[in-house]
Amino acid sequence: MSFKVQPASPSRPNRCQLFGPGSRPAIFEKMAASAADVINLDLEDSVSPADKAEARKNIITAINDIDWGNKTLSVRINGLDTEFWYRDVVEILEQAGDRIDRIMIPKVGCAGDIYAVDALVSAVEMAKGRKKPINFEVIIETAAGLTHVEEIAAASPRMVAMSLGAADYAASMGMQTTGIGGTQENYYMRGPNGETHWGDPWHAPVVAIVAACRTHGLLPVDGPFGDFSDDEGFTAQARRSATLGMVGKWAIHPKQVALSNEVFTPSEAQISEARDILAAMAQAEAEGQGAAVYKGRLIDLASIRQAQVIVKQAELIDG
Ligand code: COA
Ligand code: MG
Repeated sequence: MSFKVQPASPSRPNRCQLFGPGSRPAIFEKMAASAADVINLDLEDSVSPADKAEARKNIITAINDIDWGNKTLSVRINGLDTEFWYRDVVEILEQAGDRIDRIMIPKVGCAGDIYAVDALVSAVEMAKGRKKPINFEVIIETAAGLTHVEEIAAASPRMVAMSLGAADYAASMGMQTTGIGGTQENYYMRGPNGETHWGDPWHAPVVAIVAACRTHGLLPVDGPFGDFSDDEGFTAQARRSATLGMVGKWAIHPKQVALSNEVFTPSEAQISEARDILAAMAQAEAEGQGAAVYKGRLIDLASIRQAQVIVKQAELIDG
């Protein structure tokens, strides 16, 4: 065990991040009224190049005028390989009030990308006397992003979250896929009787992101699931990510918000089992034992830490 204590991640619920194009202001009020913990107003891939300038204006107005309640409010800027990103940062931070919480940086490839945005954001904050420092969240969605995921997580104290962007990730990796997240037709194994066993082609980047985030106290988040007609597929993907340690998932359609909240909110059964395990371990410790039997299975000091993850998550969401 390292002597360094693993840092806590930001204690804000992040079960669902609802996206909407900045060029479609008619849905902003509906986004604000949704049950998503985080709202991402998009300037990147859901906005065509001709609409970027108008979308910035829409987003500035929306940040200033709409009642976003207690939601975390984030704006996804354009990638650093475009002509748009610096104006996204400058115009939003010069003209929008303090209600904005985060900037989301897509397609990050290395810590230097974060440094560049940090320098620009810091300058605008100083120039405008902004009181509330802007947080960063990033999307890991390129081969370089995955290769450098840990230095990216550590790149700035502004960093709070990382998402996996399945579609761009697949493209960058040269993967033979077309669906945005979820089960992929050609990713399977054959069992001894010829049966198909589906594999999870997103497992490796999910684990890499979770590890980088947990090491540096960030929130690991699963990105989009494109087929919004497939509720079961969404839920299956979300459950896999939750099992591997992610705290939430994007919604690219409002109907996905409830699905995501359901998966990333510990159920009554999970919470009560976690509390029972903590109680059983408290009793074992009182009797001088480090291990005990709970419902016919071993529990020990590590079980306390596992159970605490669920109990803490439930308390965070309640609070
Ligand atoms: N947030 C909130 N409300 C939304 C919404 C969103 N992202 N997308 C659609 N709605 C609203 C619609 O306005 C409609 O409202 P109404 O019942 O009051 O008329 C309702 O939800 C149903 O919408 P629907 O007709 O099923 O969808 P659509 O065809 O209008 O839009 C998408 C579908 C996918 C184009 C749209 O959901 C969208 O733009 N999603 C976000 C895409 C994005 O941001 N991508 C970037 C991240 S990958
Ligand atoms: Mg992308």
